[in-house]
Amino acid sequence: MKGVAIVTGGAKRLGGAISVLLAQEGYDIALHYHRSEGEANKLKQEIDGLGRRCLLMQGDLSDPDLPHKLVERSNAELGALKLLVNNASCFEKIPFAETSMHDFDRYFNLHLKAPFFLSQAFAKICSEGAILNLLDTRVETYATGYFAYSLSKKALKELTLLLAKALAPRIRVNGICPGPILAPEEMDADYLNKVALRTPMKVPGKVEDILYAVKYLTQSNYINGELLFVDGGERLV
Ligand SMILES: NC(=O)c1ccc[n+]([C@@H]2O[C@H](COP(=O)([O-])OP(=O)(O)OC[C@H]3O[C@@H](n4cnc5c(N)ncnc54)[C@H](OP(=O)(O)O)[C@@H]3O)[C@@H](O)[C@H]2O)c1
Repeated sequence: MKGVAIVTGGAKRLGGAISVLLAQEGYDIALHYHRSEGEANKLKQEIDGLGRRCLLMQGDLSDPDLPHKLVERSNAELGALKLLVNNASCFEKIPFAETSMHDFDRYFNLHLKAPFFLSQAFAKICSEGAILNLLDTRVETYATGYFAYSLSKKALKELTLLLAKALAPRIRVNGICPGPILAPEEMDADYLNKVALRTPMKVPGKVEDILYAVKYLTQSNYINGELLFVDGGERLV
């Protein structure tokens, strides 16, 4: 048993794959979800089937009380917190001029404030472990279409690096920066293929490419403050 991993937005898509991988690696999973109750229940069965415990925790991460509640509950019901994966996200094309204050708050609450206070609560309890933040290759580029999304992920990148310094040597903090891996739910595969054609590798990445990165960053005990780009070189164009 490796201890307990909290995964936010962990019911499906990349978060779901990461939750299953971590269960296969020996972690018990504190699986947070927001709206995907059906997927969360299915995943719990899969994780139970692997012989690992899975605690389901529902909640909207724009609720300022949720971060510490998730950490306290995970610790009380599963014990031995070792890993926090800040994965929950939203992604909509909203240019600068059309970004409302509500949009701004939504993105910064989910991508910065929630990971900040989850990390703070986690660091209070975890004696030794790691935090892994899901960023985006856009943290290195200046495309402006998804303005608040990109800006809030850039802020999360800085939080990742500051915490890598502040929480060492007890807790390592790293980030994964995906490029085109899964199309947004309302888009089809054509959208993803078109985006991928603009990258040096010309094709989308696979979920497995993200899982290799998760494995590497969770298992390498001397890697701290690293941003691993799984983007086919997209940040270079
Ligand atoms: N997919 C890609 O190709 C790609 C590319 C670049 C970066 N990334 C990053 O990689 C991570 C995973 O990507 P993804 O596409 O799998 O993510 P996603 O589907 O966009 O979002 C993951 C989960 O976040 C949860 N969520 C959304 N709003 C929430 C809120 N207000 N409170 C709590 N949870 C909320 C949702 O949970 P429920 O379903 O339970 O509501 C959702 O399933 C994200 O951080 C994303 O930014 C992904």
